[in-house]
Amino acid sequence: MNVPFYDMRPANEACRRQIQAAIDRVIGKSWYILGEELETFEQDFAQYCGASHCIGVNSGTDALWLALLAAGVGPGDEVVTVAHTFVATAIAIIKTGAIPVFADVDPETLLMDPQSVKERITGLTKVILPVHIYGRCADLSSIMELGAKHGIDVIEDACQAHGSQIQGRYAGTFGVAGCFSFYPTKNLGALGDGGVIITDDSSFAARLRKLRNYGQTEKYHHDSLGYNSRLDEIQSAVLQEKVRLLDDWNRERAFLARLYRERLCKVSSVKLLADANWPQHVYHLFVVRIVGDISRELVQSRLEDSGISTACHYPVPVHRHEAFAQLDVPSDFLPVTEQVATEVLSLPLFPGMGTANVDLVCDALLKALTP
Ligand SMILES: Cc1ncc(COP(=O)(O)O)c(C=O)c1O
Repeated sequence: MNVPFYDMRPANEACRRQIQAAIDRVIGKSWYILGEELETFEQDFAQYCGASHCIGVNSGTDALWLALLAAGVGPGDEVVTVAHTFVATAIAIIKTGAIPVFADVDPETLLMDPQSVKERITGLTKVILPVHIYGRCADLSSIMELGAKHGIDVIEDACQAHGSQIQGRYAGTFGVAGCFSFYPTKNLGALGDGGVIITDDSSFAARLRKLRNYGQTEKYHHDSLGYNSRLDEIQSAVLQEKVRLLDDWNRERAFLARLYRERLCKVSSVKLLADANWPQHVYHLFVVRIVGDISRELVQSRLEDSGISTACHYPVPVHRHEAFAQLDVPSDFLPVTEQVATEVLSLPLFPGMGTANVDLVCDALLKALTP
């Protein structure tokens, strides 16, 4: 028996004919950058999220970076975010010249802890950047309240949370901007790199449209510096087809997650994260904490030996990587972040995985946890 950690084939097979027709359509038109396919997908995704504007760029990292630039973030500024995330969140901040300042995470959800954010805000804080890790929104009402109180913008890293909702509103629609990645394994994945920013602010959207296209206002006229970061026509056409299936896939992910929870809720060395169902949680990842006497590494290698592939999101907090040593974060600054990095284990979860595979994973996990 073999259960892969992630397999994109079932989801892509479910819409393969439509994807092929969409790619054919683009080749037929022979227009590949900044065309009507992008415009249509931008409208589709804005409408899906309930946002006024959507701006396609070439990755989630660039979505974050350009959104920060559009918010006026630059050298000398601080951006409060979390270290329990993919490094891209911090890289985007550093690319603007600003300094990432890390808040700790809530031990029950592993999402940004608003109380910790409060302690990190200084006169230099320009933006609060929560990460909706694993597919669930951070506590946006508290975070938005903090932002409003201090006059600080909020920009959401929703790269793992396409379609997740809180208080009946979609991830990415609370802050001045919400940033998404379409990396192929995301809940909404392209067939290559891609990303978007959503916003309700028209002048913010206009700045982003310039920033992604060399700072161009009209052809060969540049009144400010910009870059080359566009979501191409082929990926846009593919995403138009895939976004129609996003809710079905998210519902299926949440259903599989529920089965995992039912099987694992009484296992003492497995700590489940706080419960939430679709559409509050879209289960980009199903993550548990391995607690007690057995190490996460031993459990993971035993699972691998029995044909179950797993992953860790993330084994090393951002500030512990050599690349971020210059941030010089004190060792007792982020106790929850440091602790959970040694415990988190992501179990296989993807549309089309099937309920029998959840059982196989749980059987193998229970065996792997036996001393
Ligand atoms: C939380 C988070 N932020 C940012 C990114 C960066 O997105 P991308 O890989 O499209 O640049 C990712 C995904 O890879 C992510 O998971």
